[in-house]
Order: sequence, then structure tokens, then C-alpha cells
Amino acid sequence: MAVPRQKNGRVIIHFDYDCFYASVLEAENPALKSLPLAIQQKQIIVTCNYEARRRGLRKLQLVKEAKKICPDVVIILGEDLTKFRDASKSLYAYLRGFLWGSKIERLGFDEVFLDVTDMIDYNVALLSHHDLQHSFFCLDREDPTKGFEFDATRYCGPTYPPSPDATGVDLSDPLSRRLILGSHLAFHMRMRLDAERGYTATVGVSTNKLLAKLVGSVNKPNNQTTLIPPYSVDRDDEGCSSNVTKLMDSHELGKVPGIGFKTAQKLRTHVLGREPTFQPYVERSQDAQVTVRDVRQFPGMGPAMLTSILVGPGTAKDIGVRVWELLHGVDNSEVLEARTIPTQISIEDSYKGLPHNDAVRRELCHLAASLIRRMRADLTKMDETGSGRLRWLARPRTVRLSTRLRSPKMPDGSRNYSFMNQRVSRSGPAPSFIFSLDDDIDALATRLVDELLLSMFRRSFPARSLEELALINVAVTNMTDAEPKQNRGQDISKMFRQEEMPSTTPTSAVVDAEVFWEESDGEDGTYHHELCPRCGVSVPYFALAAHAQYHAAPD
Ligand code: TTP
Ligand code: MG
Repeated sequence: MAVPRQKNGRVIIHFDYDCFYASVLEAENPALKSLPLAIQQKQIIVTCNYEARRRGLRKLQLVKEAKKICPDVVIILGEDLTKFRDASKSLYAYLRGFLWGSKIERLGFDEVFLDVTDMIDYNVALLSHHDLQHSFFCLDREDPTKGFEFDATRYCGPTYPPSPDATGVDLSDPLSRRLILGSHLAFHMRMRLDAERGYTATVGVSTNKLLAKLVGSVNKPNNQTTLIPPYSVDRDDEGCSSNVTKLMDSHELGKVPGIGFKTAQKLRTHVLGREPTFQPYVERSQDAQVTVRDVRQFPGMGPAMLTSILVGPGTAKDIGVRVWELLHGVDNSEVLEARTIPTQISIEDSYKGLPHNDAVRRELCHLAASLIRRMRADLTKMDETGSGRLRWLARPRTVRLSTRLRSPKMPDGSRNYSFMNQRVSRSGPAPSFIFSLDDDIDALATRLVDELLLSMFRRSFPARSLEELALINVAVTNMTDAEPKQNRGQDISKMFRQEEMPSTTPTSAVVDAEVFWEESDGEDGTYHHELCPRCGVSVPYFALAAHAQYHAAPD
């Protein structure tokens, strides 16, 4: 079956900060560094530092188990995300400072992709081929003295597969040369991040986002891994000589970014010839694991077979081709450009049903207050006139409320967690009072609930099913520029395109605004949470399987 072609013209670096929430608290209070430190949300340890991990603690463990394993663990509540969000933004802006362009994309709070192709190509052209060992990496085109010395004959840091020394590096191969430079740039950025900001990261270097992310996790924490050539597949060897194939083949389907839970389940069923026993809450047994290699080598497998397995309502037409590409490590998606204003802000919480309408109103007030707080944090800046007042940089035109029902009940009373109910949404124009900067947030939130959100909730959610409520999300979308001058009413995304062009017109205030991102990550822009039926804690959907291990593990 034809193998999709790799495009290897880019150099992509993936950063994943180590034990992120714990590192944020350690940066604030360095005395915590030498102690086993765990961060608690509800009854779960969402992360812990590496000292705690050395003592047997793990991410997504129940607090009571963590205390049993390590009685002197220091536990800090991490339910207010403000600190983590602020640290994440600040690190993102810091990393962006290294780039010449603005191709830097955040994933969650603690992962960042950087497209450094322009810096690498520029520096490859500068190499002096008779003295590669004493090369200089220029970090600033305007200032040739800014940069660092490096040895361009060898990779910096570990590689995948491991290469014990520099011998065997084909310096005449342009891909090897670019990746060597990428590995040195990644190392330089890691060291600076640690020295200047006090954060360590686990970093991957390759030619696309998928490969950079997967190869990065080969050596963690505080390390980096470069996926070395050959990347291309030899026609006769079924990809056996390609390091891309080698890396991809070793992964279980669920580990491949871009292959979601449902897609992986359908593929497992097909390859195993039976329903896999795996459910989000039950630990996957060894025999229900299906690797990329198992799918790739399944008789007759290819884009057409994948399409027939995966096609269904709501799936993209090219799903077979896309998954076939992912299985081969092909990912042509661009690193998205940094934005200065988020396109939407959304806040949500998950429930195991709510008892009555008063509880709904209380939850809506809580969500609305968080939403307005976030709008003030992300969409305003200090007025330059020195008045000491805030002013809006952008105003959303639309308020949206979405709800979701709990997973359906099975005949035995348990819930079918492999079935996710769809969200139902209602939108309406954003009322102007939410932009008042003088009023108390809670008062504005209550007014928003009483004048808009409650009626949206009633229209989107059947009153008799309150005990089946799984999630409420409130969001503001449809941002418009709030500048009163030239750009009034313009679509923000169009403005950014204008800003990138050299122009003699005065730059809008948005240009120098802090760098922002989308707050959300799911298909419709948010993290999905589910409540664990065993312990009732709220767990992000992607983390259900890992969390289940703590229930499955013997005491
Ligand atoms: P991760 O990258 O999964 O974990 P980590 O950075 O803490 O640790 P590692 O060194 O293994 O990369 O998650 C990033 C942050 O997101 C983490 O610090 C806490 C938070 N988080 C949650 O809030 N809920 C979760 O279920 C998980 C897994 C993480
Ligand atoms: Mg991390």
C-alpha cells in the first residue's frame, strides 16, 4: 500500500514543561523544590514534582492513596488556575521572544510548538564547511554577535534512535544538518528557560508537530530528543529502515496525537476482530493494546480500508487518508501563528446531575463570574493616558451557553462511558452591561444569569432531566476590536493580517497587547471533563484511562 510522503522542509520544536503546576509553585517558593510536592484538585493529585515521583507518587492518583504512599507529601490546592495560566502565558511570551516569526502554538497550559525553520535555514547558510566544529548560531539577524557557539558535526542531547557518538552522522544530508542545528537551538532555549525563568522542559525536535511531540517524550524530564534520519521509507522494506516508522510503530494507538478515543476504539475492534475490553474506566489489558504497527501491517490496510472502518456521521470525508498519514508520522498541519487576542473565552464545569433549579442558578452565577473575571483579565489593558483605568481591547459580540447530558445508563444501572452525548448550545447577543469596569463582578454575573443565561439554559436543557446534567459551559465569542478609531467593528482576525504587512498607518493598540491564546483544547474549543463513577472526581476526558489505573492498582 502506498506510503504517504513526508515533507521534511520544516524544523519543529515541541516543549512540554516538567510537572508544570508543581514547577509554578516551586518558582514561587523555592523551598518546595527539595520536598515531595503534589497539587490537588478535588480528591485527585493532578501532578506532583519529581521528588514526589521518586517516592512513588504519580499523576492522577487519589489524594488518600498518595498520603498512604508518602505520608510527608506536601499537598497544595490547585483549583484556582490563575497562577498556572499566568505562568503559562509568561513562558509562552518568553519562548516567543526567541523566534523571528510568530509561529508558536500552545497546547494546554504546558506544551508549546515552535516552527524555527527560518532560523535554521538562515544558520545553515552561514555554516563554514571547513570548520563545522566551531560554528556560531546567530539568534538575531540584525545583530550578528547575538548567538552561541556550537559543534555542527554532532547532535546536541539524546537522539532517537540513540546514537552513541557523532560517527555515522551524514553531514552532507540537508535534513541531518537542519536537525543538528535544531537540536542545538532547542538545547540553548532549554538552558535559558531554566536559567532565566527557573523552568525545565522536555523537548522534541523533528520536522512536524506530531513527530516532535512524540519523540520529545522519549527522554524525560529535563531533557530533549531529536528524531534523526532516515525519515523516508524505502519501497522494498515496508518502512523498516525509517526512523519515523520505528518511532510510530512502537506506540499504542491511543498515544498518537490526532487519533481520538473513538477512532482508536474502532481500529482496535477491527484489528482484534472483537470489541476491545478497554473502556475509559477500566485499565486496558495487554491483549487489548493495538500498536500503530498492528494497524499499518493489517492485511489490506490503507486509506480506503480506514475510511470504511471509520466513516460515520460527522466524520471528515478524508478521515481514511488523514489517519493513514498519522500512522506514518505524516502531519502537514502548520504551527499556528501567535494571536494577541483570544477568539473566544469559555468556562465550564462538570456535574453528576443537579438537584433543582436553585442549584442551576448558583452554578450559572459561579460560571458567569469566572467568565467576566477572565474577560477583564484577557481583554482589557491599562489606559495609556495615565488615568489608571482599564479599557477594553476587544469586545465579544456573542454569549453562548452549552450543556451536555451524562452518558446513558446501561440496563444494569452502570453508565456507558464510551458514549459521549453531544453538546447543545444557545447563543445570543452579548449585553453591553457586562463591559462595565466599575461594577462588582458578582453583581454583573447575577444580572447576566437572570437576564440571559437562565433562559438560555431552559431553552437548551429539559427541566425534567436535571439529574442527568453532565456539563455547563458559558462562553463569549465573536470578538470585535474595541478601538474607537480606524478599526471599529472590524473582525479581529482581519486586523491581524493587516498588522503583519509593513504599513505606515499607526499600529493599533492590539499590536502591543500581551500575547494570548485560546483557553480551550477540545474539538469545540474546551477540555471535556467526566466525573469518575468510582470516586466522583472530575477528570479531563483524555486522562480517564490513566486515572482508572489508580482504582485498578492493588492497595
Ligand atoms: P502534564 O503535561 O500531563 O503533566 P506535568 O507537566 O505535570 O508532568 P510531566 O513532567 O509528566 O509533563 O499536564 C500539565 C499540567 O496540567 C499539570 O501540571 C497539571 C495539569 N493537569 C490537570 O489539571 N489535570 C490532569 O488531568 C492532568 C493530567 C494535568
Ligand atoms: Mg508537562
